[in-house]
Parts: sequence; structure tokens; C-alpha cells
Amino acid sequence: MRQADRMKNAPLSKIRQIIDLADELERQGKPIIHMEIGEPDFDTPDYIIDSAKRALDKKRVHYGPVVGTADLRKAVCDMYEKKYHLSYVPGEVQVTHGVAHGLFLAMMAFLNPGDEILVPDPGYLCYFTIPNICGATAVSYVLDSENRYQINKDTFEGLITEKTKMILLNTPSNPCGFALDHESLEEIVRVAKKYDLLVVTDDVYADILYDGKKFTCIAEYPGMKERTIVLNGHSKYYAMTGWRVGYIVTDKSLIDPMMRLSFYSISCPNTFIQDAATTALVEDDLASRKMVEEYQERRDYLVDALNSLPGCKCQKPDGAFYVFMDIRGTGMSADEFCSYILEKEYVTMTPGHVFGSSGEGFVRVSYANSLENIKLAVERVRRALEKRGEKGHP
Ligand SMILES: Cc1ncc(COP(=O)(O)O)c(C=O)c1O
Repeated sequence: MRQADRMKNAPLSKIRQIIDLADELERQGKPIIHMEIGEPDFDTPDYIIDSAKRALDKKRVHYGPVVGTADLRKAVCDMYEKKYHLSYVPGEVQVTHGVAHGLFLAMMAFLNPGDEILVPDPGYLCYFTIPNICGATAVSYVLDSENRYQINKDTFEGLITEKTKMILLNTPSNPCGFALDHESLEEIVRVAKKYDLLVVTDDVYADILYDGKKFTCIAEYPGMKERTIVLNGHSKYYAMTGWRVGYIVTDKSLIDPMMRLSFYSISCPNTFIQDAATTALVEDDLASRKMVEEYQERRDYLVDALNSLPGCKCQKPDGAFYVFMDIRGTGMSADEFCSYILEKEYVTMTPGHVFGSSGEGFVRVSYANSLENIKLAVERVRRALEKRGEKGHP
């Protein structure tokens, strides 16, 4: 049976293929160290798990409201008021099945076939594929390592056409780990207002920022709340990837089509999981802050260590748990580099082109792994690269 045309340009994530290969090698007994992972290595803190258990004991097992529970939507609003001084009411919140679902709802609800959406390159794979499913076109704005992955003010506005409907941003970002600075955000604000565009901001790493840096949500800029769809969720900061819970926060004028689409895709979000997600937001997040401290320690070690590898260099990212490493000095393509290291020393990394064509020549190294494993992985990569150098390769 032929698949629908809209599925033609929606391939399975290449990251999944790499994880599958690493899993296969692991089954064969190889000592794989996973540095390709896009999720916290920590388990969900106990106070959140206990909350889910209590919810189950209370038989919170039935359908809930389409938009999500009143408690969780209120907790989200309180959090946005407290952290970002942004005032939303519960009617402006839609609970989603993770940020991935939020991305799907935002694009499906607002992109028509033929529309264009500006997306970061390198960027999270869904930014390229979901527009395809909508029949729209993802137009890349390149985030350049030379420019610390900021918006290029000389070229950004030139990407706008009469078909442009939406700009997507992700800060701090997957795969680069850099946060957009105020100048970059101001440029997006200026262009969005000038051409009357919607802005979708994927803030899933907002709370994983280092060196005391504070997150700025683009909706905080004057006149932006009305045109911004904020996506956030519990997967990363609360180490809750498997729970599948996130939310859309936006102006009341924009929420309705996403709410209807959510009903037609999932009926309603999981009831007992929302109780636990509420607990995560209202109780002290000490456990998550500790995770962030640990990520920072790992980042500091990893960046210095990677910069000491032959042919490799990287900058110090602001947040998330990825280093985007420039491997062009090794003379290998990103695919060759990742396959070579996996084959020789069983360390898994993700080729940068998985995140868009401008990622070629780079690999994403995830430090969502223990410091001990990270140290071991770096030494293995060094051994592999030095062996290769001895054979006369560049
Ligand atoms: C930038 C970005 N957005 C969204 C997601 C998906 O998040 P969720 O687990 O909430 O669907 C990821 C997961 O890796 C991500 O890196």
C-alpha cells in the first residue's frame, strides 16, 4: 500500500539508527560508551515518582480535560510569572505529550501547504520534518560556529518571502548548546513584527543554563506575547523523558486550533502523569538544580579534554548537555569520524549533519553520562585518533 505523499519527506531519525547500531554492538558484548544520547542519564527525582504513585493510588486513571488538568495549567502559569515575569492565564495553556507533540500541534495548526518556516540549522530534526508533513517548507537560517551560533543579522531578514509564516527558535539549542543573546533575539523580534510572523520558541532546555546565566523567553519582548507560541516541558530539566509531558503557553488568540488538534490526536493528556508534573513544578526543584550543577562540571571537563584531541576543537556552550565539536581537522567526514570511533573504540556520537547540512564537519557529543564514563570516552577517542595519525592519515 502506498504511503501518503505527506510522509515522503519524513524519514526516521538518524539518531535512532545510531542508537540501534550501538545497542546491537552492546548485545554482542562490546563496551559501548553512549555519548550520542539526547536525554538525562539521571532518573526522575523521587518526589515526582512518589507523586505519580499517590495519583495512581487515588485512581487518577480516567480521561481528563482536553487542555490538561487545571492544577498543572495553573502551576505552569505561576512558574512563567515567577521565572520570566510573563502573565498567562490557565486558558492560555495546553498540556502536550512532550515538546515533540507541542511542535507538531503548533506547525499543523498554523502552517498551510506552501507556507515557509524559518528553522535553525543545525537544529533538532523535527524542525525540518514536521513542516514537510504539513506540506510546508523549512527554510534554514544557519547558525555558524564562527558567530557563536547567533543570528546573522546580514542574512536573516533576506530569508523572508511572501510565503513565510513562522520563525522557529531553540535556545539554548540542541545540538550546539548555545543560547541566543539579546541581539539575536531582538533581530528575530524586529523581523517577526515587520513581516507579521508567528514565532515558535522551543524552550525545552531553558532551565539547563550554566555560569549563572538567566534564560530570556522571546515572549518577554514588548508586543511578542501575542505572536509567540512557547513550547516547554519536563523531559530535560526534570529528567522525565519517558513520562511524555510538556505544554504550550501562548496568547488566548492562538491557543484554540492547537487545543482542537490535540483532542483529535491524543484526546487528552495522561491524568496521573499530570499530577506528578504539577508536583515537579510546585515543589522545590533542588534535585534538578543539582543535575544542572553536575552537567556544568562535566561540560567544563569535556570542553577542555575535547580541545586537546588531535584535529578537534569546540567552544564552551551555555547550556543543554551537548558539545558541538568541529572535527574537520581530522580530515574525516562526520559519518566517517563517528563510524571510525564506534568501530575502533566503541564510543557513540552523532554526526552533525543529522541536524541539517551546516552540521557537516561537526559531531554532537552528549555529556548526559557520568564524569567517569566521559573521561574514559575521551581517552578512547584520543587513542583512536592517535592510532590513525600513526598510520599516516591526516
Ligand atoms: C530541542 C528539542 N526539542 C524537543 C525535544 C523533544 O522533547 P520532548 O521529550 O519533551 O518531546 C528534544 C529532545 O531531544 C529537543 O532536543
